[in-house]
Amino acid sequence: MTSESQQSQPSMDLPIIDLDVYLNNPPTSPLVQAECSRAASALITYGALLLHDSRVSEADNDTFLDLLEDYFAQPEEDLKRDERPELSYQIGVTLENTEKPKCAVDEPCLDVIQRLDPSQRPLDISAHSPDPKARFFWRMVELPPYETQFPGLNADNITPDAAHIKERWAPTMNQWGSSMKNAVSKLSEMAALGLGLEADYFSNAGRYGPHLLAPTASDLNKYSSLDTILAGFHTDLNFLTIHGRSRYPGLNIWARNTGSRIPVKIPQGNYLLVQAGKQIEYITGGLIKAGYHEVVVNERTIETIERRKVEFPDRPLVRISSTLFWHLNSDFDLVPVPKLAERADKVREEQARLGRDEGEPARYPPTKVGYQVQDELKHIALMA
Ligand SMILES: [Fe+2]
Repeated sequence: MTSESQQSQPSMDLPIIDLDVYLNNPPTSPLVQAECSRAASALITYGALLLHDSRVSEADNDTFLDLLEDYFAQPEEDLKRDERPELSYQIGVTLENTEKPKCAVDEPCLDVIQRLDPSQRPLDISAHSPDPKARFFWRMVELPPYETQFPGLNADNITPDAAHIKERWAPTMNQWGSSMKNAVSKLSEMAALGLGLEADYFSNAGRYGPHLLAPTASDLNKYSSLDTILAGFHTDLNFLTIHGRSRYPGLNIWARNTGSRIPVKIPQGNYLLVQAGKQIEYITGGLIKAGYHEVVVNERTIETIERRKVEFPDRPLVRISSTLFWHLNSDFDLVPVPKLAERADKVREEQARLGRDEGEPARYPPTKVGYQVQDELKHIALMA
């Protein structure tokens, strides 16, 4: 593991935030206040945190990973039936080599890479596009009680047809998806409190959001040589992304205030990883920045492949990432909260004083969440 430990830099270990503290104590208790501040600080400093939630069951994640391995091990003709390009792939399957990492085509993003120390840069994405990863989108949505301006982002779910998958699909997706959705929605309350907002500020704004359970799959029979990019350097377009443990290492994240590459290790048990997306960056005026990340084949990925070949010779060799994109409501007016935008300016000044160049300040003109999403989808080649 590469480590650039300079003294002024925060630790390379992601903070662990305990959701149990929030769930089991009154919101006014000092214990809760302190944990919520830690959650907000973690998002500001790292753009990510590890979340402990006793309600989440590792067995549900395992059942989910087994199902998705079986699904993506099917022949491509079968998977193709679940594709919906006319809906910008926002439901059903996206096959490998469709989605481009935004960074490969985006100037500000290349600028971010330039400003990283060469030893901490992601694998070179300039010659790489699109990503050799497949994905399934399963909506985890509560229908809005009002007419939405963005119905296309709220289409019906698709259940795969294969006999060995069909019956267990919806229950498994919904069980694990709900666990992650509840966890991240509650964490949004902790973050709101920690930022000095009402607890339900974000959770209300996201109640009818087009949340997506979005497992990605990489075929490790084809893509297993060292330094293969499975998902190129990028940020997520939604509010917060939550991940369960993957069976294969390979996810790297970049902490905003360190510029260091951090290989993610989610502890065994009731732990999840949460990362900031573009919508939380927008609403906080850049106080919290969307976190950059990549998924690559590293030495530890290869060791795990070799070990699983021996331990589970009959299982498909597919790396599944257990991911849920938590969104704000499509019709929500997206605009920075003024007091957070002011704090964002102070953090930028402080960073500049410490010699950390954050590049040109991003601008966050008022828009609707639905337009912001459409705009981002055009960048990654999913929408014409
Ligand atoms: Fe991502």
